[in-house]
Amino acid sequence: MALRLNETYLGGFVSSAETEKIAHIAEASFELVKTGTGAGSGFLGWVDLPVNYDREEYDRIKAASAKIQKMCDVFVVIGIGGSYLGARAAVEFCKSPYYNNLKKDTPEIYFAGNSISSSALSDIVRICEGRDVCINVISKSGTTTEPAVTFRIFREIMERKYGEEGARERIFVTTDRAKGKLKEFSTEKGYETFVVPDDIGGRYSVLTAVGLLPIAVAGIDIDAMMKGAADAREKYLKAPVLENDAVRYAMLRNILYNKGKIIELLVSYEPAAQMFTEWWKQLYGESEGKDEKGLYPASVIFSTDLHSLGQYVQSGLRTMFETVLDFKKSADTVVVPDDPNNIDGLNFLSGKELHDVNRMAMTGTLFAHNDGGVPNILIEADGRDAENFGHLVYFFELACAVSGYMLGVNPFDQPGVEAYKKNMYALLGKPGYEEQKAELEKRMQN
Ligand code: PA5
Repeated sequence: MALRLNETYLGGFVSSAETEKIAHIAEASFELVKTGTGAGSGFLGWVDLPVNYDREEYDRIKAASAKIQKMCDVFVVIGIGGSYLGARAAVEFCKSPYYNNLKKDTPEIYFAGNSISSSALSDIVRICEGRDVCINVISKSGTTTEPAVTFRIFREIMERKYGEEGARERIFVTTDRAKGKLKEFSTEKGYETFVVPDDIGGRYSVLTAVGLLPIAVAGIDIDAMMKGAADAREKYLKAPVLENDAVRYAMLRNILYNKGKIIELLVSYEPAAQMFTEWWKQLYGESEGKDEKGLYPASVIFSTDLHSLGQYVQSGLRTMFETVLDFKKSADTVVVPDDPNNIDGLNFLSGKELHDVNRMAMTGTLFAHNDGGVPNILIEADGRDAENFGHLVYFFELACAVSGYMLGVNPFDQPGVEAYKKNMYALLGKPGYEEQKAELEKRMQN
Protein backbone atom coordinates (compact mmCIF):
# COMPACT_ATOMS: atom_id res chain seq x y z
CA MET A 1 0.00 0.00 0.00
CA ALA A 2 1.39 3.34 -0.99
CA LEU A 3 -0.28 6.57 -0.04
CA ARG A 4 1.44 9.78 -0.95
CA LEU A 5 0.72 13.42 -0.25
CA ASN A 6 1.58 15.33 -3.39
CA GLU A 7 2.00 19.09 -2.89
CA THR A 8 2.75 19.95 -6.53
CA TYR A 9 -0.62 21.59 -7.07
CA LEU A 10 -0.55 23.92 -4.11
CA GLY A 11 0.39 26.35 -6.85
CA GLY A 12 2.63 28.56 -4.73
CA PHE A 13 -0.07 29.05 -2.10
CA VAL A 14 1.98 27.44 0.67
CA SER A 15 5.75 27.76 0.89
CA SER A 16 8.11 25.39 2.69
CA ALA A 17 9.03 28.33 4.96
CA GLU A 18 5.39 28.48 6.06
CA THR A 19 5.20 24.78 6.91
CA GLU A 20 8.51 25.00 8.76
CA LYS A 21 7.23 28.02 10.69
CA ILE A 22 4.26 26.13 12.11
CA ALA A 23 6.04 22.78 12.50
CA HIS A 24 6.38 23.33 16.26
CA ILE A 25 2.59 23.77 16.60
CA ALA A 26 2.02 20.61 14.58
CA GLU A 27 4.61 18.80 16.69
CA ALA A 28 2.92 19.88 19.93
CA SER A 29 -0.52 18.88 18.59
CA PHE A 30 0.81 15.52 17.40
CA GLU A 31 2.31 14.95 20.87
CA LEU A 32 -1.11 15.61 22.45
CA VAL A 33 -2.49 12.75 20.34
CA LYS A 34 0.40 10.40 20.99
CA THR A 35 0.60 11.02 24.72
CA GLY A 36 -3.15 11.36 25.28
CA THR A 37 -2.80 14.68 27.05
CA GLY A 38 -5.06 16.94 24.98
CA ALA A 39 -8.73 17.86 25.29
CA GLY A 40 -11.03 14.88 24.82
CA SER A 41 -8.19 12.44 25.50
CA GLY A 42 -10.69 9.88 26.75
CA PHE A 43 -11.59 9.29 23.09
CA LEU A 44 -8.26 8.19 21.67
CA GLY A 45 -9.05 4.47 21.48
CA TRP A 46 -8.84 4.61 17.67
CA VAL A 47 -5.09 5.42 17.79
CA ASP A 48 -4.06 1.86 18.72
CA LEU A 49 -7.22 0.12 17.57
CA PRO A 50 -5.66 -1.43 14.42
CA VAL A 51 -3.23 -3.41 16.59
CA ASN A 52 -5.14 -3.53 19.84
CA TYR A 53 -8.67 -4.74 19.21
CA ASP A 54 -10.73 -7.36 20.98
CA ARG A 55 -9.75 -10.57 19.13
CA GLU A 56 -12.61 -12.56 20.64
CA GLU A 57 -15.15 -10.02 19.41
CA TYR A 58 -13.41 -9.82 16.04
CA ASP A 59 -13.88 -13.59 15.61
CA ARG A 60 -17.53 -13.22 16.62
CA ILE A 61 -17.95 -10.52 13.96
CA LYS A 62 -16.65 -12.93 11.33
CA ALA A 63 -18.87 -15.76 12.60
CA ALA A 64 -21.94 -13.49 12.74
CA SER A 65 -21.28 -12.16 9.24
CA ALA A 66 -21.05 -15.72 7.86
CA LYS A 67 -24.33 -16.59 9.62
CA ILE A 68 -26.04 -13.45 8.28
CA GLN A 69 -24.79 -14.18 4.76
CA LYS A 70 -26.40 -17.63 4.94
CA MET A 71 -29.63 -16.58 6.65
CA CYS A 72 -30.83 -13.60 4.68
CA ASP A 73 -31.36 -11.96 1.31
CA VAL A 74 -31.53 -8.49 2.82
CA PHE A 75 -29.46 -7.06 5.66
CA VAL A 76 -30.81 -3.82 7.14
CA VAL A 77 -28.29 -1.69 9.01
CA ILE A 78 -29.95 0.81 11.33
CA GLY A 79 -27.87 3.74 12.54
CA ILE A 80 -27.05 7.40 11.94
CA GLY A 81 -23.94 9.62 11.80
CA GLY A 82 -20.89 7.76 13.03
CA SER A 83 -23.02 4.66 13.49
CA TYR A 84 -23.74 4.55 9.76
CA LEU A 85 -21.46 6.49 7.44
CA GLY A 86 -18.28 4.42 7.75
CA ALA A 87 -19.91 1.10 6.89
CA ARG A 88 -21.77 2.52 3.92
CA ALA A 89 -18.62 4.29 2.73
CA ALA A 90 -16.69 1.00 2.89
CA VAL A 91 -19.31 -1.01 1.00
CA GLU A 92 -19.45 1.52 -1.83
CA PHE A 93 -15.69 2.19 -1.85
CA CYS A 94 -14.55 -1.45 -1.87
CA LYS A 95 -17.49 -2.93 -3.80
CA SER A 96 -19.68 -0.45 -5.67
CA PRO A 97 -22.45 2.13 -5.24
CA TYR A 98 -24.46 -0.47 -7.18
CA TYR A 99 -23.53 -3.26 -4.75
CA ASN A 100 -27.18 -4.19 -4.18
CA ASN A 101 -27.88 -4.57 -7.88
CA LEU A 102 -24.78 -6.48 -8.86
CA LYS A 103 -24.60 -10.27 -9.04
CA LYS A 104 -23.16 -11.58 -5.77
CA ASP A 105 -23.45 -14.30 -3.15
CA THR A 106 -23.79 -11.90 -0.23
CA PRO A 107 -27.01 -10.20 0.99
CA GLU A 108 -28.26 -6.87 -0.27
CA ILE A 109 -27.51 -4.21 2.33
CA TYR A 110 -29.77 -1.23 3.07
CA PHE A 111 -29.04 1.54 5.52
CA ALA A 112 -32.06 2.69 7.52
CA GLY A 113 -32.60 4.95 10.51
CA ASN A 114 -30.39 7.69 9.10
CA SER A 115 -33.26 10.13 8.55
CA ILE A 116 -36.77 10.72 9.84
CA SER A 117 -38.32 10.37 6.39
CA SER A 118 -41.36 8.09 6.29
CA SER A 119 -40.83 7.54 2.56
CA ALA A 120 -37.23 6.44 2.97
CA LEU A 121 -38.22 4.02 5.72
CA SER A 122 -41.26 2.69 3.86
CA ASP A 123 -39.16 1.98 0.77
CA ILE A 124 -36.81 -0.26 2.76
CA VAL A 125 -39.73 -2.00 4.47
CA ARG A 126 -41.19 -2.70 0.99
CA ILE A 127 -37.86 -4.05 -0.26
CA CYS A 128 -37.88 -6.51 2.67
CA GLU A 129 -41.34 -7.87 1.91
CA GLY A 130 -41.29 -11.56 1.02
CA ARG A 131 -37.55 -11.83 1.58
CA ASP A 132 -35.40 -13.16 4.39
CA VAL A 133 -34.11 -10.35 6.53
CA CYS A 134 -31.51 -9.80 9.26
CA ILE A 135 -30.95 -6.49 11.00
CA ASN A 136 -28.10 -4.78 12.79
CA VAL A 137 -29.07 -1.84 14.97
CA ILE A 138 -26.11 0.35 15.82
CA SER A 139 -26.29 3.07 18.45
CA LYS A 140 -23.69 3.89 21.06
CA SER A 141 -26.09 5.85 23.23
CA GLY A 142 -29.02 3.62 22.38
CA THR A 143 -31.33 6.62 22.57
CA THR A 144 -30.87 8.40 19.24
CA THR A 145 -34.34 9.09 17.86
CA GLU A 146 -33.81 8.14 14.20
CA PRO A 147 -32.41 4.62 14.72
CA ALA A 148 -34.57 3.98 17.81
CA VAL A 149 -37.82 4.66 15.93
CA THR A 150 -36.61 2.60 12.97
CA PHE A 151 -35.66 -0.27 15.26
CA ARG A 152 -39.15 -0.25 16.79
CA ILE A 153 -40.63 -0.67 13.34
CA PHE A 154 -38.24 -3.38 12.19
CA ARG A 155 -38.43 -5.29 15.47
CA GLU A 156 -42.17 -5.47 15.07
CA ILE A 157 -41.82 -6.66 11.46
CA MET A 158 -39.24 -9.28 12.44
CA GLU A 159 -41.26 -10.63 15.38
CA ARG A 160 -44.40 -10.81 13.29
CA LYS A 161 -42.57 -12.63 10.53
CA TYR A 162 -40.27 -14.95 12.47
CA GLY A 163 -41.78 -15.04 15.97
CA GLU A 164 -39.86 -13.81 18.99
CA GLU A 165 -37.47 -16.78 18.96
CA GLY A 166 -36.75 -16.53 15.22
CA ALA A 167 -36.31 -12.75 15.37
CA ARG A 168 -33.75 -13.16 18.16
CA GLU A 169 -31.54 -15.14 15.74
CA ARG A 170 -31.74 -12.39 13.16
CA ILE A 171 -31.30 -9.24 15.23
CA PHE A 172 -27.75 -8.07 15.95
CA VAL A 173 -27.06 -5.08 18.17
CA THR A 174 -23.97 -2.88 18.34
CA THR A 175 -24.01 -0.56 21.35
CA ASP A 176 -22.26 0.37 24.58
CA ARG A 177 -20.52 -2.45 26.45
CA ALA A 178 -22.59 -2.08 29.61
CA LYS A 179 -24.89 0.90 29.76
CA GLY A 180 -27.88 2.35 27.95
CA LYS A 181 -31.43 1.31 27.16
CA LEU A 182 -30.46 -0.61 24.02
CA LYS A 183 -27.93 -2.70 25.93
CA GLU A 184 -30.45 -3.44 28.70
CA PHE A 185 -33.12 -4.36 26.17
CA SER A 186 -30.74 -6.59 24.16
CA THR A 187 -29.70 -8.49 27.25
CA GLU A 188 -33.33 -8.98 28.19
CA LYS A 189 -34.19 -10.23 24.68
CA GLY A 190 -31.02 -12.29 24.25
CA TYR A 191 -29.77 -10.57 21.07
CA GLU A 192 -26.14 -11.04 20.06
CA THR A 193 -24.39 -7.78 20.86
CA PHE A 194 -21.20 -6.09 19.76
CA VAL A 195 -19.43 -3.21 21.41
CA VAL A 196 -18.86 0.45 20.58
CA PRO A 197 -15.78 0.99 22.77
CA ASP A 198 -16.06 3.67 25.48
CA ASP A 199 -12.96 5.45 24.23
CA ILE A 200 -13.99 5.72 20.56
CA GLY A 201 -16.49 8.32 19.38
CA GLY A 202 -19.00 7.56 16.61
CA ARG A 203 -17.12 9.28 13.79
CA TYR A 204 -13.90 7.39 14.63
CA SER A 205 -15.64 4.01 14.96
CA VAL A 206 -15.65 2.51 11.45
CA LEU A 207 -12.93 -0.01 12.29
CA THR A 208 -14.82 -1.27 15.38
CA ALA A 209 -17.82 -3.61 15.25
CA VAL A 210 -19.85 -0.54 14.18
CA GLY A 211 -18.37 -0.74 10.71
CA LEU A 212 -16.81 -4.18 10.62
CA LEU A 213 -19.97 -6.28 10.91
CA PRO A 214 -21.81 -4.74 7.92
CA ILE A 215 -18.53 -4.54 6.00
CA ALA A 216 -17.87 -8.24 6.57
CA VAL A 217 -21.45 -9.11 5.58
CA ALA A 218 -20.76 -7.40 2.23
CA GLY A 219 -17.93 -9.90 1.71
CA ILE A 220 -15.16 -7.34 2.13
CA ASP A 221 -11.86 -8.60 3.55
CA ILE A 222 -11.78 -7.04 7.03
CA ASP A 223 -8.35 -8.57 7.75
CA ALA A 224 -6.96 -6.57 4.83
CA MET A 225 -8.78 -3.48 6.06
CA MET A 226 -7.27 -3.77 9.55
CA LYS A 227 -3.86 -4.42 7.98
CA GLY A 228 -4.15 -1.23 5.95
CA ALA A 229 -4.98 0.70 9.12
CA ALA A 230 -2.18 -1.00 11.09
CA ASP A 231 0.36 -0.14 8.37
CA ALA A 232 -0.84 3.46 8.41
CA ARG A 233 -0.53 3.58 12.21
CA GLU A 234 3.01 2.24 12.03
CA LYS A 235 3.95 4.75 9.34
CA TYR A 236 2.33 7.93 10.65
CA LEU A 237 2.86 7.54 14.39
CA LYS A 238 6.61 7.24 13.82
CA ALA A 239 7.44 9.74 11.10
CA PRO A 240 8.76 13.19 12.08
CA VAL A 241 6.24 15.95 11.41
CA LEU A 242 7.80 17.48 8.31
CA GLU A 243 8.10 14.04 6.67
CA ASN A 244 4.76 12.78 7.95
CA ASP A 245 2.02 12.92 5.30
CA ALA A 246 -0.83 12.83 7.83
CA VAL A 247 0.65 15.67 9.89
CA ARG A 248 1.62 17.63 6.79
CA TYR A 249 -1.97 17.40 5.55
CA ALA A 250 -3.11 18.82 8.90
CA MET A 251 -0.53 21.59 8.60
CA LEU A 252 -1.41 22.51 5.02
CA ARG A 253 -5.13 22.78 5.71
CA ASN A 254 -4.46 24.96 8.76
CA ILE A 255 -2.16 27.24 6.77
CA LEU A 256 -4.76 27.57 4.01
CA TYR A 257 -7.53 28.21 6.56
CA ASN A 258 -5.51 31.02 8.07
CA LYS A 259 -5.18 32.54 4.59
CA GLY A 260 -8.95 32.77 4.23
CA LYS A 261 -9.51 29.46 2.44
CA ILE A 262 -12.36 28.51 4.71
CA ILE A 263 -13.90 25.74 2.61
CA GLU A 264 -12.19 22.43 1.91
CA LEU A 265 -13.61 20.42 -0.97
CA LEU A 266 -12.80 16.73 -0.89
CA VAL A 267 -12.70 15.65 -4.52
CA SER A 268 -12.82 12.23 -6.06
CA TYR A 269 -13.10 11.17 -9.66
CA GLU A 270 -14.70 7.88 -8.55
CA PRO A 271 -18.45 7.86 -7.80
CA ALA A 272 -17.71 4.87 -5.54
CA ALA A 273 -15.93 7.27 -3.19
CA GLN A 274 -18.95 9.53 -2.72
CA MET A 275 -19.98 7.98 0.60
CA PHE A 276 -16.34 8.07 1.68
CA THR A 277 -16.49 11.83 1.21
CA GLU A 278 -19.67 11.85 3.35
CA TRP A 279 -17.82 9.93 6.08
CA TRP A 280 -14.94 12.42 5.82
CA LYS A 281 -17.32 15.40 6.06
CA GLN A 282 -18.73 14.13 9.33
CA LEU A 283 -15.25 13.39 10.67
CA TYR A 284 -13.94 16.88 9.97
CA GLY A 285 -17.17 18.84 10.41
CA GLU A 286 -17.97 17.43 13.85
CA SER A 287 -14.36 17.49 14.97
CA GLU A 288 -13.45 21.03 13.97
CA GLY A 289 -16.62 23.06 13.54
CA LYS A 290 -16.89 24.59 16.99
CA ASP A 291 -16.04 27.70 19.00
CA GLU A 292 -16.94 29.67 15.85
CA LYS A 293 -13.96 28.17 14.05
CA GLY A 294 -13.19 25.46 11.54
CA LEU A 295 -12.93 24.74 7.84
CA TYR A 296 -16.26 23.90 6.22
CA PRO A 297 -15.85 20.39 4.75
CA ALA A 298 -17.63 19.93 1.44
CA SER A 299 -17.28 17.38 -1.33
CA VAL A 300 -17.70 16.86 -5.04
CA ILE A 301 -17.43 13.99 -7.46
CA PHE A 302 -15.67 14.97 -10.67
CA SER A 303 -16.03 14.90 -13.59
CA THR A 304 -19.78 14.72 -12.74
CA ASP A 305 -19.72 17.94 -10.71
CA LEU A 306 -17.42 19.73 -13.14
CA HIS A 307 -20.63 20.09 -15.10
CA SER A 308 -22.40 21.76 -12.16
CA LEU A 309 -20.18 23.13 -9.38
CA GLY A 310 -17.11 23.26 -11.59
CA GLN A 311 -17.96 26.78 -12.69
CA TYR A 312 -18.00 28.01 -9.08
CA VAL A 313 -14.78 26.26 -8.19
CA GLN A 314 -13.04 27.71 -11.26
CA SER A 315 -14.24 31.29 -10.93
CA GLY A 316 -16.43 31.90 -7.86
CA LEU A 317 -15.47 33.37 -4.48
CA ARG A 318 -11.83 32.47 -3.78
CA THR A 319 -12.46 30.96 -0.36
CA MET A 320 -11.81 27.29 -1.04
CA PHE A 321 -9.13 24.74 -1.59
CA GLU A 322 -9.41 21.19 -2.84
CA THR A 323 -8.09 17.91 -1.49
CA VAL A 324 -8.13 15.43 -4.35
CA LEU A 325 -8.18 11.66 -3.91
CA ASP A 326 -6.34 10.07 -6.81
CA PHE A 327 -6.80 6.31 -7.20
CA LYS A 328 -4.02 5.23 -9.52
CA LYS A 329 -5.51 1.88 -10.48
CA SER A 330 -9.00 0.76 -11.36
CA ALA A 331 -10.18 -2.80 -10.88
CA ASP A 332 -12.06 -2.57 -14.17
CA THR A 333 -10.74 -1.98 -17.66
CA VAL A 334 -12.83 -0.18 -20.24
CA VAL A 335 -11.25 0.70 -23.58
CA VAL A 336 -12.71 3.47 -25.74
CA PRO A 337 -13.78 1.86 -29.05
CA ASP A 338 -12.78 3.24 -32.42
CA ASP A 339 -15.51 4.67 -34.63
CA PRO A 340 -14.66 4.42 -38.36
CA ASN A 341 -16.90 7.45 -39.02
CA ASN A 342 -15.55 9.43 -36.05
CA ILE A 343 -19.01 10.98 -35.65
CA ASP A 344 -18.18 12.67 -32.32
CA GLY A 345 -14.61 13.58 -33.35
CA LEU A 346 -13.25 11.59 -30.43
CA ASN A 347 -11.10 9.07 -32.29
CA PHE A 348 -8.05 10.57 -30.59
CA LEU A 349 -9.34 8.58 -27.59
CA SER A 350 -9.70 5.28 -29.49
CA GLY A 351 -7.90 2.44 -27.73
CA LYS A 352 -7.30 4.45 -24.56
CA GLU A 353 -8.36 3.11 -21.18
CA LEU A 354 -11.20 5.09 -19.64
CA HIS A 355 -9.42 5.16 -16.29
CA ASP A 356 -6.46 6.92 -17.93
CA VAL A 357 -8.85 9.40 -19.56
CA ASN A 358 -10.37 10.01 -16.11
CA ARG A 359 -6.95 10.69 -14.62
CA MET A 360 -6.12 13.08 -17.46
CA ALA A 361 -9.36 14.90 -16.66
CA MET A 362 -8.05 15.13 -13.11
CA THR A 363 -4.65 16.48 -14.10
CA GLY A 364 -6.22 18.98 -16.49
CA THR A 365 -8.56 20.15 -13.74
CA LEU A 366 -5.76 20.44 -11.18
CA PHE A 367 -3.95 22.88 -13.49
CA ALA A 368 -7.12 24.74 -14.42
CA HIS A 369 -8.18 25.21 -10.80
CA ASN A 370 -4.66 26.25 -9.85
CA ASP A 371 -4.77 28.85 -12.62
CA GLY A 372 -8.14 29.97 -11.26
CA GLY A 373 -6.60 30.54 -7.81
CA VAL A 374 -7.58 27.31 -6.06
CA PRO A 375 -4.86 25.46 -4.13
CA ASN A 376 -4.99 21.67 -4.46
CA ILE A 377 -3.64 19.00 -2.16
CA LEU A 378 -3.33 15.65 -3.92
CA ILE A 379 -3.61 12.38 -2.02
CA GLU A 380 -2.45 9.50 -4.16
CA ALA A 381 -3.59 5.96 -3.35
CA ASP A 382 -3.08 2.71 -5.23
CA GLY A 383 -6.73 1.82 -5.66
CA ARG A 384 -10.04 1.17 -3.97
CA ASP A 385 -9.57 -2.03 -2.05
CA ALA A 386 -10.05 -2.92 1.62
CA GLU A 387 -6.41 -2.32 2.52
CA ASN A 388 -6.42 1.14 0.97
CA PHE A 389 -9.68 1.93 2.72
CA GLY A 390 -8.19 1.02 6.13
CA HIS A 391 -5.09 3.08 5.39
CA LEU A 392 -7.06 6.13 4.27
CA VAL A 393 -9.35 5.92 7.29
CA TYR A 394 -6.41 5.98 9.68
CA PHE A 395 -4.66 8.72 7.70
CA PHE A 396 -7.69 11.00 7.88
CA GLU A 397 -8.51 10.20 11.52
CA LEU A 398 -4.99 10.99 12.69
CA ALA A 399 -4.75 14.12 10.56
CA CYS A 400 -8.13 15.26 11.90
CA ALA A 401 -7.08 14.92 15.52
CA VAL A 402 -3.80 16.79 14.91
CA SER A 403 -5.58 19.43 12.85
CA GLY A 404 -8.22 19.98 15.54
CA TYR A 405 -5.58 20.52 18.19
CA MET A 406 -3.71 22.90 15.86
CA LEU A 407 -6.94 24.86 15.49
CA GLY A 408 -7.32 24.98 19.27
CA VAL A 409 -10.52 22.92 19.59
CA ASN A 410 -11.41 19.62 21.21
CA PRO A 411 -11.62 17.31 18.17
CA PHE A 412 -13.56 14.65 20.06
CA ASP A 413 -16.72 16.32 21.31
CA GLN A 414 -19.81 17.49 19.41
CA PRO A 415 -21.80 19.78 21.71
CA GLY A 416 -23.52 21.47 18.76
CA VAL A 417 -25.31 18.27 17.75
CA GLU A 418 -27.55 18.51 20.83
CA ALA A 419 -29.21 21.84 20.01
CA TYR A 420 -31.67 20.57 17.39
CA LYS A 421 -32.47 17.48 19.44
CA LYS A 422 -33.55 19.54 22.45
CA ASN A 423 -35.85 21.68 20.33
CA MET A 424 -37.28 18.65 18.53
CA TYR A 425 -37.96 16.86 21.84
CA ALA A 426 -39.61 19.98 23.24
CA LEU A 427 -41.82 20.45 20.18
CA LEU A 428 -42.81 16.77 20.26
CA GLY A 429 -43.78 17.02 23.92
CA LYS A 430 -41.05 14.95 25.59
CA PRO A 431 -41.53 15.07 29.37
CA GLY A 432 -39.11 17.49 31.03
CA TYR A 433 -39.03 19.91 28.07
CA GLU A 434 -42.23 21.85 28.89
CA GLU A 435 -40.56 25.21 29.44
CA GLN A 436 -38.59 24.99 26.19
CA LYS A 437 -41.75 23.98 24.33
CA ALA A 438 -43.63 27.04 25.59
CA GLU A 439 -40.75 29.31 24.62
CA LEU A 440 -40.47 27.82 21.10
CA GLU A 441 -44.21 28.08 20.52
CA LYS A 442 -44.08 31.73 21.51
CA ARG A 443 -41.25 32.32 19.04
CA MET A 444 -43.22 30.55 16.29
CA GLN A 445 -46.18 32.89 16.80
CA ASN A 446 -44.09 36.05 16.53
O1 PA5 B 1 -20.03 10.89 15.77
C1 PA5 B 1 -20.94 10.91 16.57
O2 PA5 B 1 -20.75 10.85 17.79
C2 PA5 B 1 -22.37 10.99 16.10
O3 PA5 B 1 -22.46 11.15 14.74
C3 PA5 B 1 -23.10 9.71 16.47
O4 PA5 B 1 -22.43 8.61 15.87
C4 PA5 B 1 -24.55 9.77 16.03
O5 PA5 B 1 -25.18 10.88 16.58
C5 PA5 B 1 -25.28 8.50 16.45
O6 PA5 B 1 -25.21 8.32 17.84
P1 PA5 B 1 -25.51 6.95 18.50
O7 PA5 B 1 -24.54 5.95 18.01
O8 PA5 B 1 -25.40 7.19 19.97
O9 PA5 B 1 -26.94 6.58 18.10
